[in-house]
Amino acid sequence: MIRRLAQLDVSQRRVLLRVDFNVPLTPDGSVRDNTRIVAALPTLEAIIERGGIPIVLSHLGRPKGNPSPSFSLRPVATHLQSVTGRKVHFASDCIGSAAKDAVTAARVGEIVLLENLRFHPGEEANDESFAAEIAQLGDAYVNDAFGAAHRAHASISALAQHFVGRRAVGLLMERELSYLSKVFDDPPRPFVAIVGGAKIADKIRVLQNLLHQADFVLIGGGLANTFFAAQGHNIGDSIVDERYITHARTLLNSYAPKLYLPVDAVVSDELSEATPTSVYEIHSIPPDAELKILDIGPDTIESFADIIATAALIVWNGPMGAFEFKPFRRGTLAIAELVAQATDRGATTIIGGGDSIAAVHMAGVADRISHISTGGGATLEFLEGKVLPGIAVLEE
Ligand code: 3PG
Repeated sequence: MIRRLAQLDVSQRRVLLRVDFNVPLTPDGSVRDNTRIVAALPTLEAIIERGGIPIVLSHLGRPKGNPSPSFSLRPVATHLQSVTGRKVHFASDCIGSAAKDAVTAARVGEIVLLENLRFHPGEEANDESFAAEIAQLGDAYVNDAFGAAHRAHASISALAQHFVGRRAVGLLMERELSYLSKVFDDPPRPFVAIVGGAKIADKIRVLQNLLHQADFVLIGGGLANTFFAAQGHNIGDSIVDERYITHARTLLNSYAPKLYLPVDAVVSDELSEATPTSVYEIHSIPPDAELKILDIGPDTIESFADIIATAALIVWNGPMGAFEFKPFRRGTLAIAELVAQATDRGATTIIGGGDSIAAVHMAGVADRISHISTGGGATLEFLEGKVLPGIAVLEE
């Protein structure tokens, strides 16, 4: 069993709270997108309300084991103080006297945020003595860092082992697991998976797992091109990965009844804001070496809409085209709206992956999605069916 926060005694305890505050910063060093910070607030507040003091641990970026001002969590401390209205004690190191002083100074109702864990090589090396130093700072351990749960790093793996009987998942982690597990545990049906994105190599394992679990799998984005190549269509200069053509052919043969590819596409010679575009049916794309497939076409939107309209569960990962550019946005935004409509009529809808999340925000439908995952690589690995080390270590 994995203990939930509600089952952990936190009163009068210093609670080491691992979060994923790996947030984008602006060039002048302030928080550009606070989604991950806001997502951790319910856990922070729950610990405080029950009389605990959260000692918050996170990484930021990839400073490769060395302190570096551009990867400091100090701007996050300032931001956290303003969104919580609570005093945040920032420690300029996550171990040693700076950390101890901040922890000692904090009172119930206040928060401690320790500097970037990855300023020490011991974090990524899952080093036992580094974890032991952090462990001294707290009486209990809560992991709410779903976005980092695929990393067997010290604050996620070795540290958790110091707190057998005194460790739990946070509320965000619980929410992520309860939504994403629907894919594997008796999913509501029809279960429709929508998979897009540029590169098939990044998605092949997710695609395979979803083809196994779902009733319908709708494929769009650059990764569809490798399937078109496998079918022998002209794809000109479209992004394609030759290494996966045979694999794509096997999937087409094995999963034919549930695998849906685009039937038409928006194409252009150029990926830019003002380029002229044409729409072709996939089987009649002309043999033009310059041409690139950059979005799904209107007939595809219509056929995908019919399937999405039947869904009880939808999992969407990856855009349908190069939606950062206006001429190639329509397909992705249409899918975002269709997924939101599915939520409105009672389906459970789950979105993961930075680009599809950006798309639901662009479409203005983010608040009409059941669950927007905070994980990037972690969400993908979970959907691939992998056991995430940060979750496995919490089993008791
Ligand atoms: C993420 O942003 O996906 C997580 O914070 C993990 O970051 P990492 O890929 O640098 O380990």
